[in-house]
Amino acid sequence: MTAFIADPNQPTGPDAVPGSSETAAGQAGKVYLIGAGPGDAELITVKGLRYLRSADVVLYDRLISPALLQETRAGATLIYVGKGAGCHTMPQEQINAELVEQAQRGHTVARLKGGDPFVFGRGGEEAQALAEANIPFEIVPGITSAIAVPAYAGIPVTHRDFTTSFTVVTGHESPSASPSVNWEALAALGGTLVVLMGVKALPNFTQKLIQGGIDPATPAAVIQEGTTDEQRVVTATVATIAAEAQAAGLSAPALTIIGTVVNVRETLVWYHQTHP
Ligand SMILES: C[S@@+](CC[C@H](N)C(=O)[O-])C[C@H]1O[C@@H](n2cnc3c(N)ncnc32)[C@H](O)[C@@H]1O
Repeated sequence: MTAFIADPNQPTGPDAVPGSSETAAGQAGKVYLIGAGPGDAELITVKGLRYLRSADVVLYDRLISPALLQETRAGATLIYVGKGAGCHTMPQEQINAELVEQAQRGHTVARLKGGDPFVFGRGGEEAQALAEANIPFEIVPGITSAIAVPAYAGIPVTHRDFTTSFTVVTGHESPSASPSVNWEALAALGGTLVVLMGVKALPNFTQKLIQGGIDPATPAAVIQEGTTDEQRVVTATVATIAAEAQAAGLSAPALTIIGTVVNVRETLVWYHQTHP
């Protein structure tokens, strides 16, 4: 990745990053909850990259670009804590405990999370665990897939001619989840709908939206691995998108976008991609 910021081992100014070399013995380190962006490694923020490069320990998720891991400093400890669909490498409580423990050892810790840490990323839970343990932390917001993935597919989540709002919702509802998604209310809302974590649940929630009164002919798209070289996009309507996505073999990570803004893609395709 292009080196566009200063060497983090030579911090200067009030915003300099404290590395372990500067941490007094016995003092707790600090945890940086960093949004890595949606896939394209260059979509991390300048601040996020600066903190990542200075970290002693990096805990990272499944969807983190390998190019970002190459930005870590020599000797940094890299810990994979990713969660696949239905397969949890490390339970959330253990991730929280690991963050606390690493900081208590005096380390500067980068917790690298896909997209934005606070958008369906459990960043809130991790920050709460740090606050409870009196560990200093900082949140570095990231570019969420909810907006950037449609953008790379040529779909603006809002457009003055078509919609005044967009709603981001999870398509993954565990039976014990509370509160559950009110698909009928979302159908009535009328704005753009972005559904994360919902590729398997596509038939289920598109049916609920239709039952809730959404026009079955409303344009819809499923985008897999958006912003990467592997990006794939399928467009259809709410009534047909589940079958079309399945026929194309789309799978996670993918998101669904529903609304008339999807039609804008016809004139805005700009990103190199492999079409199904
Ligand atoms: C656990 S959520 C985390 C979202 C993340 N915090 C964010 O702000 O983008 C993971 C879901 O985000 C969506 N997602 C993340 N990266 C994606 C990508 N590159 N292409 C398509 N969908 C993506 C998928 O719906 C995936 O199941």
